[in-house]
Amino acid sequence: MKVMMINGSPNEKGCTYTALLQCKKGLEEMGVDANIVHIGREPVYSCSACFGCEETGRCVHDDICNNMLALAEQSVGIIVGSPVYFAGPTGAICSLLERMFFANSDVLKAAMF
Ligand SMILES: Cc1cc2nc3c(=O)[nH]c(=O)nc-3n(C[C@H](O)[C@H](O)[C@H](O)COP(=O)(O)O)c2cc1C
Repeated sequence: MKVMMINGSPNEKGCTYTALLQCKKGLEEMGVDANIVHIGREPVYSCSACFGCEETGRCVHDDICNNMLALAEQSVGIIVGSPVYFAGPTGAICSLLERMFFANSDVLKAAMF
C-alpha cells in the first residue's frame, strides 16, 4: 500500500516538506508506505483546454503532470501539501492538479483523500 505525497512548494526542503514528513512518519508507523514527490521549480502550465487528453488519459504537454499521473496510478492515496500564497495554494499546485484531474480523473478519484 503506497501513498503519494506531493510537495507543492518551490522549496524542496522547506516548511511544506517538514509538515509532509510528519505525515509520512505517521503513515509509516501504521505500516503505510509513503513517498514525498517535489513539484520542482520549473513553471507548471495550466490546462489549455485542448481536450487532447480525452483518449490517452495523459496531457499533451508531456511534463511533470504525466509523471505525477504515472505515480498516482501506483498509489492508493494522494496527499497534497502547499504553502499558503495569498490565502490559497500556490499557482503551480493548482495548475498541476487541474491538469491531472482533467487528463485522468479516474486515477485521482480512486486515490485522492
Ligand atoms: C508569494 C508568497 C505569498 C505568500 N502568502 C502568504 C499568505 O497569504 N499567508 C501566509 O500565512 N503566508 C504566506 N506566505 C508565506 C508562506 O506560506 C510560508 O513562508 C510557507 O511556510 C513557505 O513554505 P515552504 O517553506 O514549504 O516554501 C507567502 C509566501 C510567498 C512566497
